[in-house]
Amino acid sequence: MSTHASTTADSPAYELAPYKSLSNETLHARIQAVREQMGPELLILGHHYQQDEVIALSDLRGDSYQLSQLAAANTECRAIVFCGVHFMAETADILANRAEALAARDGRRVDVILPDLAAGCSMADMAEIDQVEAAWEELGEVIDTAQVTPVTYINSAASLKAFCGRHGGIVCTSSNAAAVLKWAFARRERVLFFPDQHLGRNTSLAMGIPIEQMPVWDPLADELGGNDEAALTDSKVILWKGHCSVHQMFTAAHVEQFRERHPGIKILVHPECPREVNDLADVSGSTGKIIETVKASPPGTQWAIGTELHLVNRLKAEHPEQEIHFLSPVVCMCATMYRIDLAHLCWSLENLAVGRPVNLIQVDPEIAQWSLVTLERMLEVK
Ligand code: 13P
Ligand code: SF4
Repeated sequence: MSTHASTTADSPAYELAPYKSLSNETLHARIQAVREQMGPELLILGHHYQQDEVIALSDLRGDSYQLSQLAAANTECRAIVFCGVHFMAETADILANRAEALAARDGRRVDVILPDLAAGCSMADMAEIDQVEAAWEELGEVIDTAQVTPVTYINSAASLKAFCGRHGGIVCTSSNAAAVLKWAFARRERVLFFPDQHLGRNTSLAMGIPIEQMPVWDPLADELGGNDEAALTDSKVILWKGHCSVHQMFTAAHVEQFRERHPGIKILVHPECPREVNDLADVSGSTGKIIETVKASPPGTQWAIGTELHLVNRLKAEHPEQEIHFLSPVVCMCATMYRIDLAHLCWSLENLAVGRPVNLIQVDPEIAQWSLVTLERMLEVK
């Protein structure tokens, strides 16, 4: 902070470039200084995939569901700096600035900041609102869409959450997907699940829905998402053709190799992994569940874990009493989560501290209102 002592709120925002040449030690100290200066007015949230140095400076960490709950529950802060990806910051903005939370803070909005706006999610980008609206209309030509619940994975743009809100749908996370599908089937006959085909398929299979009743909708296909009419009229869950490029890298061969070389090893994966990996795993669950599973296991347990590399490496460091391996021989890391580094965090915090927030995430009010309907449903279903 000392280098900026003479700056006022009227002057232009600090440039990012000089921060990039500072050492991590300096950045850490300056971030710490802002945290002390702002106290409870500042809430730094960190997703489990963040780098260790970012996690060390986060007030709270969690999976997508937990982070949504934390953003919804905090009544003290005036700013949330989200160390995660774009859809998470959008969700935090919608929940932290909903009417009920605003009333509890006498109308004061919470600034939600994403330290690097390029921190997106490639899976979320695989379903665009125009594509989803076009698919819905086309589906309406062969099935009754009044009997279809649109379910969007939280890894999606707010406009898709709003679409679900307008059409009686709901948002799910990797920690409540089965409960959300039950919720949906209690109301209507079918589900359109986007954007992650793997989470949709793995969850539906575990609920006993036959694979034959899960056609895949390819938004780039010429007609009916690449399906014939019968596949859609017989469907229970229509899966959007989207995936996570990080989790797509894990294969059944990796699981088999570990089992061969380490008899007794347990395979623990995220449900964004392809079906063949998920089916072979001993445990499948959200990042929060992966952490809890390891924490609850006795010393000497052997694990091969199929999720983002930073989380697996942190688990290895935090649990030396267990033997933890990364499930793939190649690096699978989320390049967009990795964009949040100490330089971006320090830059955004120091601008915030002098009253010139940068990289604000503000969801359009109409989209926010409809998204909130589905996010509140999501938080109720566990
Ligand atoms: P979790 O909700 O399990 O943290 O997953 C988020 C995510 O993006 C996984 O790739
Ligand atoms: Fe998106 Fe995959 Fe990264 Fe998760 S790991 S944020 S799904 S790209």
